[in-house]
Amino acid sequence: MLRLDVVTIFPEYLDPLRHALLGKAIEKGILEVGVHDLRQWATGVHQAVDDSPYGGGPGMVMLPEVWGPALDDVAAHTGPVAAAAALETAEAHRNVPRHDEVEGIEEQAYLGRDVREGEDPALPLLIVPTPAGKPFDQEDARAWSNEEHIAFACGRYEGIDDRVTQDAKNRYRVREVSIGDYVLIGGEVAVLVIAEAVVRLIPGVLGNRRSHEDDSFSDGLLEGPSYTKPRSWRGLDVPEVLFSGNHAKVDRWRRDQALLKTQQVRPELLEGVELDKKDRELLEGRRDA
Ligand code: ADE
Repeated sequence: MLRLDVVTIFPEYLDPLRHALLGKAIEKGILEVGVHDLRQWATGVHQAVDDSPYGGGPGMVMLPEVWGPALDDVAAHTGPVAAAAALETAEAHRNVPRHDEVEGIEEQAYLGRDVREGEDPALPLLIVPTPAGKPFDQEDARAWSNEEHIAFACGRYEGIDDRVTQDAKNRYRVREVSIGDYVLIGGEVAVLVIAEAVVRLIPGVLGNRRSHEDDSFSDGLLEGPSYTKPRSWRGLDVPEVLFSGNHAKVDRWRRDQALLKTQQVRPELLEGVELDKKDRELLEGRRDA
């Protein structure tokens, strides 16, 4: 069971977590989600959550005196966090099987958690989405799919007072992550992205582990093309090799397509991939796919 807590000034923005795959995971009891309005921890007549930056400059910075108690309550499951009802699955998913549920194949978690030197593995993970963070990748998603409690702190892009993450290290393993080199208004959409990437890897969510062993990035390569019926459509034919019934040949073709796609679109990814003789022949144009 994975518990996700999200603290945000836009709770309704997280509603998609109740739908599709994540809603189904909630219904199955694999996932529990709490979404918390940061303003519950605001004090003062105006319930302010931010103020102007020391040293001047544009934008606003979020207040440590609001974020501190909010993250304390999330870590300890106290205060408004204990009182909040967990998110329910969207009605559309109640007791309706999904097309990608697969029975009868062993469910297996991914190995390895994200615990750094000097960190207490029993502490929950705190993800702080920010364009100034380390780029989030599939390796993070895999490691975090083994967690039991992940909290997300959604700040606006100008940021949260830096002392909040410094102090949170006493109660969390803190990770500042970016979902890409562009700037969003706040961390909410990044949380949706990260939560979806993580939750689909939890055993029992996508049905089985094999459904994501061929994903793009799982072997360091982008995935090549896929085809289904009909065999010929609008004058376009499915590649002949896929009807050969020869698994070794089909696997070789799929690897070739993945290699060529990666070389075309993301050549820098090839540097991290172990290439054998056949792979190199293809990529150097000495062999056709
Ligand atoms: N908040 C604003 N921009 C972001 C980004 N690119 N990634 C994560 N969080 C963000």
